[in-house]
Order: sequence, then structure tokens, then C-alpha cells
Amino acid sequence: MLNNYDRIADLYDLYVTADYDIGFWKTECADAGDVLEITAGTGRVTLPLLKAGLRITAVDVAMHQLERLKKKAEDENLTVETVQADMRDLDLGRRFPLVIIPFQSLQELTDSCDVTAALRGVRAHLADGGRALITLHHPGAQSAGSSRALLLVNDSELKNGNRLLFWNARTFDAESNIGTSYQLYEEYDVDGVLHRKRLFSPKYRVYAKDEFAELASRAGLRITREWGGYDWSPLTEKSCFMIFELKV
Ligand SMILES: C[S@@+](CC[C@H](N)C(=O)[O-])C[C@H]1O[C@@H](n2cnc3c(N)ncnc32)[C@H](O)[C@@H]1O
Repeated sequence: MLNNYDRIADLYDLYVTADYDIGFWKTECADAGDVLEITAGTGRVTLPLLKAGLRITAVDVAMHQLERLKKKAEDENLTVETVQADMRDLDLGRRFPLVIIPFQSLQELTDSCDVTAALRGVRAHLADGGRALITLHHPGAQSAGSSRALLLVNDSELKNGNRLLFWNARTFDAESNIGTSYQLYEEYDVDGVLHRKRLFSPKYRVYAKDEFAELASRAGLRITREWGGYDWSPLTEKSCFMIFELKV
């Protein structure tokens, strides 16, 4: 069976158009030269960093996501090294001044032991004096707003003239701290006839700051700086995000 995100690699860029974090990554990566990006996907963050002149090693478990990233880079005459690997078991045999896990993707690991394994991998790839930047949703922001009602998130026209509707619902289980996203994709032709429908249902785990700090410490990492948003605002109870800088 294909890895989860492989099943929607052809659709991902049509509905994930967020760019609120790109300025942050460009600034934070500017002096790093060599960056290891874990969970790079189709390159939403990778491409702007490549364009800014950085060398990126892009890791993702989903092969088709990486294929799209590679193609997008080639179309722009940019070079990127892609590696298909699971972040829980990463061993590139190289070290980097900066390792990043953007877009709150560490939360795709719903088992805390897996998070520790991934953070051990981050640590193993840090050069002496290097740092990691990892972003998470703030628990308060993510546990609220659970709704079984489908919301129309996007209505876009495909190259063949058909319409793609993207619907989403989200539930959250406060006992396990695990959320489930129900993402439905429907493609209609010009006559309104449904041609295909696809369900993608990723799970995510909400981690509190203290828990994350404990998991990081088990992996031999400590939090050295923190922010509550991609504008470098302080981390508070009202923040939307938790952005951590970690060092050995
Ligand atoms: C929400 S997408 C984010 C992709 C990209 N960073 C972005 O900003 O659009 C999450 C990505 O994490 C990847 N991923 C999930 N679990 C993974 C794992 N265990 N190891 C490596 N990548 C993983 C998925 O394949 C997917 O591409």
C-alpha cells in the first residue's frame, strides 16, 4: 500500500496553498548554507529556500510527493537532493548546520516513542554547534474547533476543465490527544457529473510544550529558543503555534 500522502500527491498542491511561514524559513535558513528538511513533501517550503540559494536535502516518506518536488525544482532549473526515508529511522551518514521539520509535520507521529525516535534522528544529523527548528500547533488552537460537519475549503478548476472540490471535517479525542482529519476530494465535469471521489484521513497528535520538551530531552536535545508564531512573536497560551529551536 502506498504511504498516506502518496495517495494525494497529485492533489496536494491544489489545496495546500499556505505561505504564512515562508518568510520565517527564508530568514532562519539564510545563513545555514546546507539544510536538512524532514517531511519536505512536494516542496512548499523547499522551493522558496532553493530559490534563495540554499542547498537542501529533502526527506519524506512519500515517494510520489518527492517526485513532484523534484519535477518542480527541475522546471525552475534548481537542484535538490531528495531522500525517501521515514523520519523515525533516518540515517543519512551526514551532518548539517540546520535541520528543520516545518508545517507542524512532526505531529503526524501519533506515538510519543516515534517522536523520540525522530528527534534522535534529528540530533544524529546535527553538525557541531548546529540547531534544529521544529514547529508544532499550539494545543489550545488545535484541540478547539473539532467538527464533524464538512466544510468546503477549496473549489478549483483542473487543467481538463473539471472542478475539484475539497471538503474537510476534523474530530479531536481529548483522551488520546489525537485528531483525525477527514479530507474529501470530488472531481466534477462541466455537466456536474461526479467523476471521482477520494478520501484521505490523516491523524495527528497534539503535544503540549512540557511533553515535547521531555521527548526532546530523551533524544539528547534541549529547547534553546521558542516562538508562538511565524512572526517570531513570544509563545503564550494564546499562540497558534509552538516553534522551537533545539540544540544538543
Ligand atoms: C502536511 S505534509 C507537509 C509537507 C510540506 N512540508 C509542506 O509544508 O507542504 C506532511 C508531510 O510529512 C510526511 N511524513 C509523514 N510521516 C512521515 C514520516 N514518518 N517520515 C517522513 N515523512 C513523513 C508526509 O509524507 C507529508 O509529505
